[in-house]
Amino acid sequence: LLTMGLLILTACGTGTEEGADEGTNGTDTEEGANEDAKEERKVLQVGTDAAFAPFEYMEKGEITGFDVDLLEAVMAEAGYEYELKNTGWDPLFASLDTKSIDLGISAVTIDEERKESYDFSVPYFESTHMIVFNEGTDITSAEDLNGMRVGVQNGTTGQSAAEKILGKNSDNISKYETTAVAFMALTNGDVQAVVTDNVVANEFVKNNPNANVEAITDEDNFDSEFYGLIFPKGSELVEDFNEALTTVIENGTYEEIYQEWFGSEVDTEVILN
Ligand code: ARG
Repeated sequence: LLTMGLLILTACGTGTEEGADEGTNGTDTEEGANEDAKEERKVLQVGTDAAFAPFEYMEKGEITGFDVDLLEAVMAEAGYEYELKNTGWDPLFASLDTKSIDLGISAVTIDEERKESYDFSVPYFESTHMIVFNEGTDITSAEDLNGMRVGVQNGTTGQSAAEKILGKNSDNISKYETTAVAFMALTNGDVQAVVTDNVVANEFVKNNPNANVEAITDEDNFDSEFYGLIFPKGSELVEDFNEALTTVIENGTYEEIYQEWFGSEVDTEVILN
């Protein structure tokens, strides 16, 4: 495992550059350099919706997950200090709109519609959708969702994937604030299926052996998509983060984190191309 230290984000602001420019007003003549230094020390605010294991979720009061470790590595590479906040999903986008956060990492799919309002980094993870359902439910393909009550997290690509099958304004789609709550609705019997990202679907099945749930994919109906860091439109940070992310992917750090969370090798060509 990566050291626990990586997960302790409260260390922000106590780093090695401390004191480098505290109260420098009087004597510093190199204005430009001083400005640059200030820029670097700005603590970036990062938002996430930590109810999406294994990418981001709460454990013992800490936000943890693949995204969290990747973020730590990318921030270290880019040389930024940051604070990660569990904003929730809809507020993540609202916070980007008002620029009250500088970026988000939340397994956010890079899609055309979002690109109109936000900027994205280069891709860092490939995903597709899966259907999760209670064992014994007659589902062998996405088409079987027709006529069933389907749960999704509101405003996700899982919602769009379900709408593609059931129709955009289908009354049979129940939208929940988090994916975790959608899963609860499934085990409660409020919905018959949940459509969500494949890795999250598999994690839920694996972590709930007594829930008697299973997950299937459907390559004919569900497309491949990619996650990226998300920024307010026009953010000057995108370039820096693209560089850092690419370095982390190319220098083996990404693979280490991937191996640790998913226990398997990763083909980085898929995200680098
Ligand atoms: N990848 C999907 C999307 O971008 C779902 C992401 C949900 N992430 C989360 N942390 N709840 O719409």
